[in-house]
Amino acid sequence: MRSKIKKIINKKNKSKIICLTAYSKNIAEAIDPFTDIILVGDSLGSVLYNYNTTRNVTLHTMIEHSKSARQGIKKSVMVVDMPYMTYKNKSEALRNAKKIIKHTKCDAVKLEGGSSISKVIEHLVKNKINVMGHLGILPQNVKGKFKAKGKTNSERKKILNDAKLLQKKGVFSIVLECVEKTLSKEITNTLKIPTIGIGSSQYCDGQVLVIDDLIGLNETKIKFVKKFGNIKKNISEAAYKFKKEVLRKKYPTKKHSY
Ligand code: KIV
Repeated sequence: MRSKIKKIINKKNKSKIICLTAYSKNIAEAIDPFTDIILVGDSLGSVLYNYNTTRNVTLHTMIEHSKSARQGIKKSVMVVDMPYMTYKNKSEALRNAKKIIKHTKCDAVKLEGGSSISKVIEHLVKNKINVMGHLGILPQNVKGKFKAKGKTNSERKKILNDAKLLQKKGVFSIVLECVEKTLSKEITNTLKIPTIGIGSSQYCDGQVLVIDDLIGLNETKIKFVKKFGNIKKNISEAAYKFKKEVLRKKYPTKKHSY
């Protein structure tokens, strides 16, 4: 396992892990000094392409956005989501993971699911591919509204067992999406590897958010999202100023002309 990945594992019980998504170079460059992990998530399907499901995201799209993001990442561990249907079985998963790594030079891939994909994960890990797990809400499997996970005993048992199984199969961390807080705490305390929460409480070892939500570029009313900036407003203000100056013939001046 590469030392960058080991550093992430070693943060457990010492320091919170900071993870954000990035789908392009400029965003990756802006966040890289402050992140431990940058995820090129297939959330780009809904955030950038307005798809109503991440199932429409292709391997080609993930690779192109990851190639762009790669240009802006210097120090963070780069993780790329494997899109829907690209890890149906062991051999396809390995072929596609290798393709992602070859083209994007990412450090790891992320796959959604528990026991149903544990053999696939084991195969990737055996072939020296760093894997991040993803439990709780699995957007690639959800049709319609997202509902928090871990509210019934059977669901709790299943998610906890899946987390233990993924750890056994060699994932280096697990994203917990919208997992009820006492269950997140139990999973985090049970595992030796870090949990990265999204809508899963402060008990996780780290936190991840979609950058476009956090900076106010993508308007969303999701309960767990906190808006830390208002970039959309800044963009509109800049566009308005540009329009005003062009209409009043104040821009371009001599300084901006050849
Ligand atoms: O696709 C994504 O961005 C993700 C995060 C929300 C964890 O999986």
